[in-house]
Amino acid sequence: MEKPIGVFDSGLGGVSVLREAIRILPHEDFIYYGDNRNAPYGDRTEQEITKLTMHCAHALARCGAKAILIACNTATATCIEQIRSDLNIPVVSVEPAIKPACMHPGNGKILMMATQATTHLKRYLALQARMPNPARVINVPCPGLVERIERGILGEDAFDDLLDQYLSAYHTMQIDGIVLGCTHYIFIRDAIKRYAAMHLHGTCTLFDGNAATVYQLKRVLEAQRLLNVGTASGNITFHTSGNPAQYEPLFELLLHRP
Ligand code: DGL
Repeated sequence: MEKPIGVFDSGLGGVSVLREAIRILPHEDFIYYGDNRNAPYGDRTEQEITKLTMHCAHALARCGAKAILIACNTATATCIEQIRSDLNIPVVSVEPAIKPACMHPGNGKILMMATQATTHLKRYLALQARMPNPARVINVPCPGLVERIERGILGEDAFDDLLDQYLSAYHTMQIDGIVLGCTHYIFIRDAIKRYAAMHLHGTCTLFDGNAATVYQLKRVLEAQRLLNVGTASGNITFHTSGNPAQYEPLFELLLHRP
């Protein structure tokens, strides 16, 4: 089907999911909507996040999206049920990848880095409770990281102060895995890896849910016969609630970043 897939995030982070989506679904068209003017969502109340997310999801549906990819863990944890019940198109969403992380062998801990909101919300806590050993997962809210990434700061050593603030409590523990539970954090995985190599013990394998989410989207589109049967490369259109002159170059930069 030749209609586009709508991709939503509070800002730039969802481009990390879009990158996977283009790789796995190269013939699809995508409309990306970043609510950059209102990012970060992670420090907002549940009511605010719901209101902003619903507004954006409806806007993507009005643009003719045949399906919506919620590329924001915070929005998923806050209001995925409401998005699904309000829209009559398939909705697939990213969630912190604690399941594969918990399947990783070892007796050490798993650090789940995410926004303040995600780490406190019922839906995420229920996901954690379903893990074989929920206490293995330590939730680490990381306010401030998203703001910096939204400014286009991505340097490997540009986050040491914040990472130290949030991770120094775990310096003496054995850490088997780190879950990047916010789609923005994928863009600073080198900074997180570098910090872990310098200060943490254990393998600190990084996990994210991006590829698994896009494969789920592919299965849903296949099952509903919504896949685009064309063989040409798809088109990508970016929209932002922020200043396009500021964010459009960043969307492009992140999309093509290795
Ligand atoms: N990228 C989003 C996530 O995956 C939210 C970032 C934010 O706006 O706080 O949670």
